[in-house]
Amino acid sequence: MSSISNPTPVMDRHSKFPIESLRSQFPALHRTPPFTFFDNAAGAQVPQIVLDAVNQHLVERNVQRGGRYRHSREVDATIARARESVAVFLNARDPSEIAFGMNATSFIRLVSLAIGQTLKERNEIIVTDLDHEANVATWLALEREGAKFQWWKMRDDGNLHPEDLKPLLSSKTRLVACTVASNALGSIVDVAAAAKLAHEVGAEVFLDCVHYGPHAVMDVVAFDCDYLVCSGYKIFSPHMGFLWGRRKLLEKLPTFREDFIPDEPPGKIEAGTFIYENVAGMDAAVSYVENLGKSLRDTEGSSQANSKRAHIVRAMTAIRSYEESLSLELLRILRACGATIYGVAEDHRVHERVPTLCFNLKKTAPARVTETMSDAGIGIRDGHMYTPRLMKRFGLRQDSGVVRISAVHYNTMEEVHRFGDVLLDLSKHE
Ligand SMILES: Cc1ncc(COP(=O)(O)O)c(C=O)c1O
Repeated sequence: MSSISNPTPVMDRHSKFPIESLRSQFPALHRTPPFTFFDNAAGAQVPQIVLDAVNQHLVERNVQRGGRYRHSREVDATIARARESVAVFLNARDPSEIAFGMNATSFIRLVSLAIGQTLKERNEIIVTDLDHEANVATWLALEREGAKFQWWKMRDDGNLHPEDLKPLLSSKTRLVACTVASNALGSIVDVAAAAKLAHEVGAEVFLDCVHYGPHAVMDVVAFDCDYLVCSGYKIFSPHMGFLWGRRKLLEKLPTFREDFIPDEPPGKIEAGTFIYENVAGMDAAVSYVENLGKSLRDTEGSSQANSKRAHIVRAMTAIRSYEESLSLELLRILRACGATIYGVAEDHRVHERVPTLCFNLKKTAPARVTETMSDAGIGIRDGHMYTPRLMKRFGLRQDSGVVRISAVHYNTMEEVHRFGDVLLDLSKHE
C-alpha cells in the first residue's frame, strides 16, 4: 500500500498539544485489537474520570433525588454541582438556566412546543438548510400552530452568511434556529453576527451547539443567543442532553409539568427523571476539560488566569488550534485522493470549520468506502448525516449520501495518515 504521509507535517506548530497524555486517559483508545475512532460526530469516547464518576454514582447513590436520607441528598448535590459546572462550561451567569434531559432533540421539541403556544402576530421562524434535521423538522412542525417559515440558505462556499439572514428578518420574526457548527460539513457559523441582526428586529435565537461543543469554546454571552442546546455524548460524556436559556425567557415558557412542580427553571423544563449517573458523567467531562486547561497553564507559566472558566477556555482554544492541523491534513489527503469535498475546502478558510469532513470518491459508493475502512480498523460513517436537505442540494441520493470522517482532539496525525493510506488505495483502484 502506498503512503499518504506528509513529509513536512502541518502538525509541527502544535507539537505542544499533550496528545499522548490525553489519549492515555481514554481506555477505549487502548483496546486490542486497536481501533481508530473517526465517527466522533456520532458520539465520542469517554475519559476514565467520566467512567469513575458514573460508576461511583451507581455504586454510592443510585437512588431518587429529593429524599431526606444521605444517598438521596448526595444525588441532589451531584445534580447541583453538575449544573454549576455546565454553567461555567457555557459561560452562563446562573446555573438555574441549565436543564438536564435525554438529548438535544427532545429539548428542541420541548422549546418549540412552548414557543408554538405563544406565536401570535410574531409567527415567523427562520430555519437553515445547513442544520441537523432535529433543528429543522421540530420547528417546521409548528405549521399547525400557524407558524410561517423563512429559509436561511447555505451559500455554495459551504457556510451560512449573516448578510443573507438580514433580508429574511422583520418585525414578524419570532425566532432564528441555527447551528453553531454543522454535524455534516463541519462549517462554523458566525452566530454572534446572526444574533445581533435577529435581536435588532426583536427576534430570539435558538442555537444548536451539539456539534460545536467538543471542538471550541462555548460562550452564551459571546454568542448572545437566547437558547442553546447540547448533547453530552459528543463531549466525552455518556448519553444525555442539556439546555441553556435566558432565565427571563425560561420563566415565561409554557411547559408541561405536574401541578406540584413550581413554574420555575430548571424544574419546569425537567419534568420526570433524567439519568443522574450520566449527569455526574457530564460534570466529570467538564473537569476533564478543566484539567487540560490547568496542565496547559502549568506549561505556559503560573501567571496565567486561574479560574475554572479560564482553564476551560484555555483547553478548548488549544483543542481548536490542534484540530485545525487535523483539518488541514484531512483536506490535503482528500484532494490527493481526487475526492469531492462538500463544504469549506480551502486551507485559508480552515478557521471556518471543525475536522468533520464529508466527501465522496469519484466512483466508489460511500458504503463501500466505510466498509473498507472498517476492515482496516477505522470507524467512519456513510449516509445522509441527518441533513436530507443538504444531500438534495448536492444532488445526492439520501440512501447513499456521503462519507463522513469526524475527528476530535484525541485523534492523532498517525491515525489521519492511516485513514489516508486506505483511502488512497481505494481511489487508485476506482
Ligand atoms: C448538530 C446536531 N444537532 C442535533 C443532534 C441531535 O442530538 P441528540 O441525538 O442529542 O438528540 C445531533 C446529533 O448528532 C447533531 O449533530
